[in-house]
Amino acid sequence: MASSSKYPYSTETTQGVVGWKAPSNIALVKYWGKKGPQLPSNPSVSFTLSKCLTETHIKWSVDPEKKSGPKIDLTFEGKEAPHFQQKIEKFLGTIVDVCPWLDWCHLKIEGHNTFPHSAGIASSASSMAALALCLCSIEQKLTGTLDEPRRFYEKASFLARLGSGSASRSIFPKAALWGDMSAFGGRDEYALPVSNIHQSFENFADAILIVSDAEKEVSSSAGHALMDQHPYRQIRFSRARENCHKVIKAIAEGDIKSFGEILEQEALELHALMMLSQPSFILMRPGTLSIIEKVRAYRKRSRLPVYFTLDAGPNIHLLYQEAYRPEVIRFIENELLEHCQDRRWIDDKMGTGPEQVR
Ligand code: PMV
Repeated sequence: MASSSKYPYSTETTQGVVGWKAPSNIALVKYWGKKGPQLPSNPSVSFTLSKCLTETHIKWSVDPEKKSGPKIDLTFEGKEAPHFQQKIEKFLGTIVDVCPWLDWCHLKIEGHNTFPHSAGIASSASSMAALALCLCSIEQKLTGTLDEPRRFYEKASFLARLGSGSASRSIFPKAALWGDMSAFGGRDEYALPVSNIHQSFENFADAILIVSDAEKEVSSSAGHALMDQHPYRQIRFSRARENCHKVIKAIAEGDIKSFGEILEQEALELHALMMLSQPSFILMRPGTLSIIEKVRAYRKRSRLPVYFTLDAGPNIHLLYQEAYRPEVIRFIENELLEHCQDRRWIDDKMGTGPEQVR
């Protein structure tokens, strides 16, 4: 809907404060490649995390007399962040057609992460999810159109997606599916919660092993663009779709072995795609490979179902059932931390989703 020049909302409420905490997520089946207005080339499934969060507070006000486009002042971790501010300004500019009230709005945005920026963990998913949730809370206050929770979260996921594709999945607790998959009601425009989760996945742990905290060598947008001309493009998109079916089934049935096999295959496929793209990128580091070898040897030796996955970077996510926590932590401390930068890791797990704090 294009916005009219006259302020169309009630003038009773013209200011307020909102705040949300939103988590990061780890993709089990990866989103890699996009089309149109940030729509995914294939469906993806993720686990929502618990400790890696962004908390965002927005002090907002509207001036019904002044339609001058969204105005923002932004601080991140208590400091001005011009690069981030520019990114958010651009993002808000792209969503005024779906949030027309923004044209009369001034937003004072304060954000901070619970995990260090230098941990090599992508914060765009949690930060865009927190921002989208704040925007939906403001929209509800101004228009009263999002009081039904399902509508609220769908819109939040829709907006988060336009900011950063994977952020669409961070809106939901435990596990989420994003992308067109009619069997599960999946849509390209926004993510949905995966509702059928077997109890063996309760509190599933994710040990994030920081092999390197260096800035990403290739941005996600550049990475997705590499798929446009990729020789394995079509086969990748159909395999990812198949893997979404398989992983959703494994999560419903508590089939940890099938889950783990898909998890590792997806991680290695993502990196293989990057190695074979033009230009080519090798984002694993020697420490990444050492950890992968040790995880596989440990699994064979201990018979414990511990599996790895990777983002588009060198750090490892080690996923395992909470019941095996003491043994796995001993394994991490004794064998894996020597490959991590300054022996750093984050002891995270499947989380309960975003939380409104104001
Ligand atoms: O949401 P983006 O554009 O940062 O892309 C995320 C890409 C991966 O993290 C590699 C995979 C995924 O599905 O999260």
